[in-house]
Amino acid sequence: MRNDLGLSAGVTAQDDGVPRHVGIIMDGNGRWAAARGFPRLEGHRRGVKALRRTVRAAGELGVKYLTVYSFSSENWRRPPREVADLMMLLKRFIRNDLAELHGNGVRVRIIGSRDELMPDIRNLLIEAEELTRDNTNLTLIVAFNYGSRQEIAMAARRLAEDAAAGLLDPKLIDENLVASRLYTAGAPDPDLIIRTSGEERLSNFLLWQSAYAEFVFLPLHWPDFDGAALEQAISIYRGRQRRFGDVAAHSAPPSAMTGS
Ligand code: IPE
Ligand code: IPE
Ligand code: MG
Repeated sequence: MRNDLGLSAGVTAQDDGVPRHVGIIMDGNGRWAAARGFPRLEGHRRGVKALRRTVRAAGELGVKYLTVYSFSSENWRRPPREVADLMMLLKRFIRNDLAELHGNGVRVRIIGSRDELMPDIRNLLIEAEELTRDNTNLTLIVAFNYGSRQEIAMAARRLAEDAAAGLLDPKLIDENLVASRLYTAGAPDPDLIIRTSGEERLSNFLLWQSAYAEFVFLPLHWPDFDGAALEQAISIYRGRQRRFGDVAAHSAPPSAMTGS
């Protein structure tokens, strides 16, 4: 059913209440470790285990896209030792888990700038994306060396380059065209964004894409996250009324907002 604005008003594919796209800001590894007298690296190691559990649970719950924030463009400010540990853990995660992810029909995408990454990591990211490109059960989007402002600036720069080269009429630049130049092109906007550890901020994560996301902030640290915590966040999400500017509730964004 469509109203006068051409917006779909009613039944959608995801009417079972399961968010199609969940974004997670995996925060609190350092505090988890400090509370136990462990080095921060141990918190990050346990964080990888939590990620593994969460990917499985998301697939079982019927989530189609899961975006996890694992290294921000600002995380380079950390001590070099910690940055090196986080690079090492990403490499290990891909090396150890790629076969299983592929076997479970998970498509892996990595978003963020690759320019600052070492060639061995860049090659691993390409390998993971190539191997899993036709999988359709769940798309796991790993935000690594990702910053949303940098992403939006990059999209603007590319559009400007096309316009300057005479390939694009600037009058044609609209929301959908901008979205199509972001790292997340082709993925629906997140319905639910979860942040662990009690912090309530985006820290430069999916600024454009989360315009109408629901936010759930959980007090537990990321290494303690599991399927039950994901279900809890989804149940809070289910209790929310999403309106997308309308007076009535909608279970998904109107098609005019998604470009689909
Ligand atoms: C999240 O945990 C992991 C990354 C940001 C890479 P933190 O390392 O930020 O943990 P806290 O916030 O210091 O506890
Ligand atoms: C955000 O967490 C980045 C990731 C979870 C990868 P931070 O711990 O870096 O964020 P701030 O610095 O507390 O905002
Ligand atoms: Mg943190």
